[in-house]
Amino acid sequence: MINALIRVFKRYEWFKRLNAKVTYELLAKYIPAKDWLFMNYGYIPTTAEPPLQLPAGSTNQLLPLQMYHFLATRRDLTQKAVLEVGSGRGGGANYIATRLQPASYVALDLAQNAIDLSRELYHAPNLQFVQGSAEALPFGHDSFDVVVNVESSHAYGNVPNFLSEVKRVLGTGGVLLLVDFRNQVAGMDLFREQIIASGLKIVSEENISAQVVKAIEAEDPEKRARIEKLVPARWQKLFGQFAGVVGSPFYCTLKEGTRVYHRFVAEK
Ligand SMILES: C[S@@+](CC[C@H](N)C(=O)[O-])C[C@H]1O[C@@H](n2cnc3c(N)ncnc32)[C@H](O)[C@@H]1O
Repeated sequence: MINALIRVFKRYEWFKRLNAKVTYELLAKYIPAKDWLFMNYGYIPTTAEPPLQLPAGSTNQLLPLQMYHFLATRRDLTQKAVLEVGSGRGGGANYIATRLQPASYVALDLAQNAIDLSRELYHAPNLQFVQGSAEALPFGHDSFDVVVNVESSHAYGNVPNFLSEVKRVLGTGGVLLLVDFRNQVAGMDLFREQIIASGLKIVSEENISAQVVKAIEAEDPEKRARIEKLVPARWQKLFGQFAGVVGSPFYCTLKEGTRVYHRFVAEK
């Protein structure tokens, strides 16, 4: 019943904004776990991609980290000015800022609690966390070389506003690196049209749904253990669905192909 109501209300921009704000403020406030660093569904590379080798013990969430790695390494970020929109708990921002050597990395999120948590956890000298909205970025024209966006755009009230903001803050030749899902294939078709309409040029688009399904399957035991440890018992089932555990509607629809997850590189 509640899920059906949420589906109806999600047609309204104001509700999508409110839903994202309340959900992610509450998650960071009530589950400020310092070992839960990522909130994306994870990625397992194809055999064509060179595997990521990290020193043992460098992360407890390798698969969500790989979502960042295999997106960010589509371009060389060395000495670039990078903005991330929707940085969540900051794990991806810290990984890119410390490993891929951008000159600066500004990580923005709507949820003040997520920003506070990120500031507490990460202190790289080239990394800065800022609260703000994807639909009204608090930066001047031509401020960045690259915008990174991981599994966040589906939550925005007005996606064209976000894309026009990305275009505004990117310098000429700047790049948007984005991964996200849409609940139907038609939703992804619409998103592609919105990118084109924004004036950004799509350089590559890949359907990475199968790689995300594999990651969900591989991370499932660990994810369930984390939920059991961190989430109060009465919320665990609902949270499992939100987190896309194996058997959840998110997992099933992604696996059967009604929901799709794509990776985009687009240029200004
Ligand atoms: C599924 S989480 C992904 C977080 C992070 N990218 C990761 O992969 O761990 C989506 C994030 O987008 C943020 N978000 C949602 N709407 C936003 C908006 N309008 N502006 C900025 N961030 C937003 C949420 O607060 C949340 O942190």
